[in-house]
Amino acid sequence: MKTIGLSAPDITPEEHLLVDEVLRSGHLSFGPMMETFEREFAARFGARHAVAMSSGTAALHVAMIAAGVHDNDLVITTPFSFIASANSILFERGIPHFVDIDPETLTIDPAATADAIESLAPSGRLRAILPVHVFGRMAEMEPILKAARRHGIAVIEDACEAIGSQSDGVFAGRCSDASAFGFYPNKQMTTGEGGVLMTDRDDYAALARSVRNQGRNGYEFDRLGFNYRMNSISAALGVAQLRRLDELLTKRDAVAARYDAILANVAGIRTLAAPRAGMRISRFVYVVRLDPGVDRDLVMSALAARGIESRVYFPAIHLQPFYRERFGFTEGMFPNTEAAAATLLALPFHGNLSTEEIEYVCDSLAAEIVRQAA
Ligand SMILES: Cc1ncc(COP(=O)(O)O)c(C=O)c1O
Repeated sequence: MKTIGLSAPDITPEEHLLVDEVLRSGHLSFGPMMETFEREFAARFGARHAVAMSSGTAALHVAMIAAGVHDNDLVITTPFSFIASANSILFERGIPHFVDIDPETLTIDPAATADAIESLAPSGRLRAILPVHVFGRMAEMEPILKAARRHGIAVIEDACEAIGSQSDGVFAGRCSDASAFGFYPNKQMTTGEGGVLMTDRDDYAALARSVRNQGRNGYEFDRLGFNYRMNSISAALGVAQLRRLDELLTKRDAVAARYDAILANVAGIRTLAAPRAGMRISRFVYVVRLDPGVDRDLVMSALAARGIESRVYFPAIHLQPFYRERFGFTEGMFPNTEAAAATLLALPFHGNLSTEEIEYVCDSLAAEIVRQAA
């Protein structure tokens, strides 16, 4: 049986060429290719610095260090995300203060976030705000930035799923003190494993370059650091993919548009709402909402039986066993997140998905929903 995977990287001879160049050069870790990647990445988004990292998680961790997060500090973030965003706070022994999402956009509720900033800032323990641009939809940053600036609190964007997204002409990752990008193979562009910390702040960039390399400062080590370096083979992939980014995003847009058109006529599911005017989504995954009467587990097994991968995106972070045990979170605390986590389903999605494959996925989904309703 033919299987349709959830995601697939888009690799062409251009990637092969640059990876081969690195292999022949002998510079497999730090080297000119990583510098090229950093320079082109920063230039692409008009930033002063792009610091290449071994993963998006590493970039988030370093951003938390740069923001000054340490023991028992509070960081406002969303429970509807990939677990790495909240984990990055815990790496520095900070405490996530979750704010629920807007049920339509799935990003952190901006007014509730601004309120939380006002109420927590006087404690002196609020160190940073970490909004996540979920599935390539940017969080509404303006109210968050306004409140954070008023109290001198750092804002870090988790832009791991949002390379190339824009809000009113501003790119994801360009509204805050620093932003994290991730390039796992399911992302819009990939480096295999890899990430970038992007910032205009010279102090953050200098710290990030040191922390990713064991805390090195010249010939000495003057802080605790890690091995968060990006290797040059990944950087070569990154350079080729970044140069093809417009093409990669356009192909993903076309696949999403085809899904939207077909699924608009399928009962029992809703596609996600179009973004507001001025918002441009860089498509990370294709997610649908199942109506309350539809049994998602049965849908997933019916799709699997036809060779189609699907996935729950995202399970709520606060309800994961580790978070329940550590912080005492329980069901009902973040109802919009819990409703999204209970009803959303990610379908196969990448730029080279054929029309036949999309139709096969949609037909299979529709058939299972009809079967359940009968
Ligand atoms: C929202 C979000 N944050 C953080 C990450 C972590 O990135 P990485 O897997 O490169 O560590 C990812 C992706 O995996 C993500 O989707």
